[in-house]
Amino acid sequence: MGRPDRNNEVLQFAGCDTVELAKTFGTPLYVVDEAVIKGKCNEIRQEFLLKHNNTKAVYAGKAFLNLAMCKIIEREGFGLDVVSGGELYLALEAGFPMEDVFFHGNNKNKSELRLAISNNIGRIVVDSLYELQLIEDVAKELNKKVKILYRLTPGVNSHTHKHIVTGRADSKFGLPIKRENILEAVKRAIKCKFVELMGFHFHVGSQIFDNKSHVDSVERVANVMKLVKVELGYVTKELNTGGGYGIFYTHGDLIRPINYFTDAIMEKIIEKCETLDLEIPTIIIEPGRWIIGEAGITLYTVGSVKEIPNIKKYAFIDGGMTDNLRPALYDAKYEAAIANKYIKEKTEIITIAGKCCETSDILVKNLKLPLVEKGDILVVFSTGAYNYSMANNYNNIPKAAVVLISDGNAEVIVERENYADLIRKNKLPKHLEPFV
Ligand SMILES: Cc1ncc(COP(=O)(O)O)c(C=O)c1O
Repeated sequence: MGRPDRNNEVLQFAGCDTVELAKTFGTPLYVVDEAVIKGKCNEIRQEFLLKHNNTKAVYAGKAFLNLAMCKIIEREGFGLDVVSGGELYLALEAGFPMEDVFFHGNNKNKSELRLAISNNIGRIVVDSLYELQLIEDVAKELNKKVKILYRLTPGVNSHTHKHIVTGRADSKFGLPIKRENILEAVKRAIKCKFVELMGFHFHVGSQIFDNKSHVDSVERVANVMKLVKVELGYVTKELNTGGGYGIFYTHGDLIRPINYFTDAIMEKIIEKCETLDLEIPTIIIEPGRWIIGEAGITLYTVGSVKEIPNIKKYAFIDGGMTDNLRPALYDAKYEAAIANKYIKEKTEIITIAGKCCETSDILVKNLKLPLVEKGDILVVFSTGAYNYSMANNYNNIPKAAVVLISDGNAEVIVERENYADLIRKNKLPKHLEPFV
């Protein structure tokens, strides 16, 4: 978690007083500690990139992406995974080196592919043969050669919420690992004049604490590498093993160092390549949550407190499922505290509810807190990943601001939306315009 100081009455985060942050920038407020991001990147460098030859790290931008984050990731020397034309556009605007960008997604359209290919994207991770044909057509039109990986569905299950499992045989992502499928896909890619097949990709899911599904997937994909070598003489140059490494949200979550996953992946690939007589490809990892999740907190102001005698007590906050969709989407759990009563004794059980018009707009259930009163600042921990990036305008609620703390200085990196932002794209058809 992002370095809270537990000895202070007011929660300090990354060297800043959280109540002051709330006063200065307003709430709800996403606060991100740059030092935590850099620390995570450094751990990846020490424990993966410098430890194993021929490896690459790519940050999965879907977890949290904006111009500042692109710059941090670029300075760390990592690649970037984008999953839509919008994320790609952001990376372009940030001046991110395009040769280090991986373009994912199960239904990329022609205009997204055009944007990617015309800007010399590093890799496109291809989800289907339909997409292969689109890429070949666009690349031909632009007279460019595009490097691709095939996304494979390894057919493994991961122990995480069912909505964030992606490696199972029935997944919407990737090509199923079946002999005929694979041979057909590789043959077709080899035949393409404007495409260069670099290898394979898999991603088994998110918030995973056990390395088994990664290791089992490496085993299966290594068998694919052997198959295509024997049958088609195709040598796999790259294997992207996705992300998915779990982080701390609530007590009981295991905190895994990066090498718990990466050492196991490397051991398996080396062992398989030896036994199957294969060259070891470049191994790529693609974590998102693991890099940014624990670097973020969200601050809210408590408004009304509602007690239903002998049944339940609620504290209502000035945000909710618009800034953190995960509890409503897949029952995600969080730790939270009252920032201005950080070391006060916890005397009540209370449920934190948002301000949206949905019963499921509950952020944290049955939380133990000191007496909660209007005006208190609630802090939710580990909100760096998939909070801001999933923020939405349900109920026409403006999106919260994002503040980055670097060396004790807090700066806005994404401004708070206002009401005018919310209706900027509205248009009145002629027949509804006011009479003059
Ligand atoms: C293809 C791909 N790579 C990487 C990630 C990052 O996952 P995580 O944030 O769990 O590391 C995702 C997340 O959905 C993904 O779909």
